[in-house]
Amino acid sequence: MAIRLGDVAPDFTAETTQGTINFHEWLGDSWGVLFSHPKDYTPVCTTELGMAAKLKPEFDKRNVKIIGLSVDPVDSHLDWEKDIEETQGCAVNFPMIADADRKVSDLYDMIHPNANDTFTVRSVFVIGPDKKVKLTLTYPASTGRNFAELLRVIDSLQLVSNYAVATPVNWENGDDVIVGMGVSDEEAKTKFPAGFTTLKPYLRITPQPNKV
Ligand code: BEZ
Repeated sequence: MAIRLGDVAPDFTAETTQGTINFHEWLGDSWGVLFSHPKDYTPVCTTELGMAAKLKPEFDKRNVKIIGLSVDPVDSHLDWEKDIEETQGCAVNFPMIADADRKVSDLYDMIHPNANDTFTVRSVFVIGPDKKVKLTLTYPASTGRNFAELLRVIDSLQLVSNYAVATPVNWENGDDVIVGMGVSDEEAKTKFPAGFTTLKPYLRITPQPNKV
């Protein structure tokens, strides 16, 4: 059964490059990003993991823990990490789940047999502090993900979890936002003291509330 937005992220206990973890316990009160890689010692994954490691301070700033997964054992992950550091210029600084028995991959439906019956696809699950799934992405093995986009989406998710707003197309942190559809004009006047512009009754724009 596919995991849908709003579902509780399935819990599990797994071996990782940083020891055994219980997923929910490891998440604690943080946000989380769980992302899968098709296989160790593969080129696209090598670049993705290097980028994720470089961006870890940005995830930390947002109170987001990141964790990777592939269907190889811990010793393979650890050996591959040496190549990642050598070629990408950054050591992997977050845990990688060793899912040789595919327990977690199956739990999160990360193996799509019509794409490949042994490797995982490139899945991403963003999980909120309430342990609920806030975003899912699925990329094929041949296309590397954009981790800057992941940070952009997390900025939006965190903003809308605190304010009655939505973020428009191509929004970046600091840009104007959309007043939530459930907010009346009267309420908007108190919720958004910086004011708002009504382009249409359903399309009202206000400065990003935590930036004014
Ligand atoms: C890669 O990471 O480059 C890759 C992994 C599995 C299949 C194809 C490419």
